[in-house]
Amino acid sequence: MSLKEIVIKEGILKGTTLYSLWLRERLIGDEFIDPNNLQRLYEPSLLDENLLIDDYIVQDKFLSISFSDGVKGKISVEELYKEIHSIDTVPEKKIWDKNDKIQVFDNSQIFQNTENLTQMLKAFYEYGYAIIKNTKAEENEVIHFAEKLGPVRTTNWGKLFNVISKPNPNDLAYTALELKSHSDNPYRKPVPGIQLLHCIANESTGGDSSLVDGFSVAEYLKFNHRDFYEILTQTSVNFKFTDVDVILENKSKLIELDTDGNFKQITFSGRLDYVPLLNDKHLDIFYKARKCMYELCNSDQFKIKFRLSKGMIAMFDNLRTLHGRTKFDPNTGFRHLQGCYIDHDATEGKLRRLLK
Ligand code: OGA
Ligand code: ZN
Repeated sequence: MSLKEIVIKEGILKGTTLYSLWLRERLIGDEFIDPNNLQRLYEPSLLDENLLIDDYIVQDKFLSISFSDGVKGKISVEELYKEIHSIDTVPEKKIWDKNDKIQVFDNSQIFQNTENLTQMLKAFYEYGYAIIKNTKAEENEVIHFAEKLGPVRTTNWGKLFNVISKPNPNDLAYTALELKSHSDNPYRKPVPGIQLLHCIANESTGGDSSLVDGFSVAEYLKFNHRDFYEILTQTSVNFKFTDVDVILENKSKLIELDTDGNFKQITFSGRLDYVPLLNDKHLDIFYKARKCMYELCNSDQFKIKFRLSKGMIAMFDNLRTLHGRTKFDPNTGFRHLQGCYIDHDATEGKLRRLLK
């Protein structure tokens, strides 16, 4: 028959049009891919660009094909289906607001077995955060915890940072001031994926924590303030951090979309953002939109509020979930958090492996 494309007539792929070269580079078996690492043993760019399909059959869960270059092989129908429909084992994100149950996990159980670890990581990817209780209220515990999940991202501050009220701080986090809902380190390249904040002491009056689902806010804007949503998804903003030995800068949109128009990243930090000098019409609407986003991110409708007490860790997706704290009075007691960052690679990759 010799076809460039075939249309599958039965099974889960019924009605799907498949292209010859696309299929040829997905053949399975030791002849084509290394069984140890599943990487291709040949250069797909060197395949015949005029390749045709001479024959094919769907049988026993496999699509078996003969190609015009003389190669015969098969592909799992289920794997094709998953790839075509972008089906990932990492669960879909669940949009939440203040009415949703807080996701709390017990440190003594998370690492007891893979089932518990899987549950925690699934919740983390669904909700964009997990609160962990019962860790040791000791220095460096945040690193010990984080390293069970993945390598810690060392920055110019080292492996961890101490959140403590101190004189002449290089960041407002190290004061007793209120911190409105924000993303951390939007000026880094890349922005840290996951943040962990561990509480060693929280004996001051005030200093309560909050989290907000940035995707929930973005969705609200999309359906209720379309013009604001559009400007926020289109305007690149510069984020800047100035210290004695570095000036860090990175640009992003406050609502970043992927190529399919899905939410990819929320970046919000009123302490650090610099919108470019655009024309007055653009800036007029941008400032209205940012104000609206700020109000939503700090409104009771979207915030979950809790108190990080001794031994608790708040672990959150810094590309989605915003965090904040109320002001505290350092004269009423000692407050000390330690924080660090890890990458999504490690946790997402671990979860995918656990769910395989
Ligand atoms: C931070 C921060 C929150 C807190 O250090 O980035 O947001 O509760 N801290 O102190
Ligand atoms: Zn922060």
